[in-house]
Amino acid sequence: MDVFDTIHSMRAMRRLKPDPVPKALLEKILSAGIQAPSGQNTQPWAFLVLTETANKKFFGDRYNYWLRERFGDLLLKNDSSSPYGRTINAARHLGDHMHEAPVILMVFGKRDWPFNVKENDRKGNAPPSYGSIYPCVQNILIAARALGLGASLTTMHQMFEDEIHDQFNVPRTHGIVATIPIGYPEGNFGPLTREPLNKKVHYEKWT
Ligand SMILES: Cc1cc2nc3c(=O)[nH]c(=O)nc-3n(C[C@H](O)[C@H](O)[C@H](O)COP(=O)(O)O)c2cc1C
Repeated sequence: MDVFDTIHSMRAMRRLKPDPVPKALLEKILSAGIQAPSGQNTQPWAFLVLTETANKKFFGDRYNYWLRERFGDLLLKNDSSSPYGRTINAARHLGDHMHEAPVILMVFGKRDWPFNVKENDRKGNAPPSYGSIYPCVQNILIAARALGLGASLTTMHQMFEDEIHDQFNVPRTHGIVATIPIGYPEGNFGPLTREPLNKKVHYEKWT
């Protein structure tokens, strides 16, 4: 796919077929991820790939529990004729089926204090370096789309991150930035709903 066609049709694909994703394809996607820029070229990303049923169930059960805990009422009240309503329906579908995604990819970032936090203010855990991980995440989403795979960026893991560390032996030096279920898409990608550029851009002076 042309890069602009890919970007302009890359949206959260929350309905996935059960067909497995070949490892070579997954590694092509991850390889696109690690080509991303990062602060001082530190490349602070690390990936945890879940494909085994028990591991995906461990994650999926908790994802769905917390999705419903946090957004319970909202998930029920929605109008599927509006883009927002369809997003909510798809998010609920993903919660119910997360454990069936062929691949659940977790993208971690090495914890590191942003340089604007002074030494004396550095208490507790540093956050993962989000700014250096999101370009990698975006490359992954774009690569998946270009290869005809569906993926979506999720962040509900933050409700049970400690359990993930314990279960999968993840060192506390790293924090989760994004969890991305990946598989072949069920249905089509549909149009993007984005506000027009002229509402977002200011030239020379904020207007
Ligand atoms: C920081 C961030 C967090 C997100 N968290 C979730 C999430 O937890 N669950 C989910 O289903 N989608 C999540 N999304 C996906 C967005 O809801 C989605 O990209 C947005 O609504 C635009 O929809 P589209 O990609 O279908 O055009 C997240 C996206 C971003 C950038």
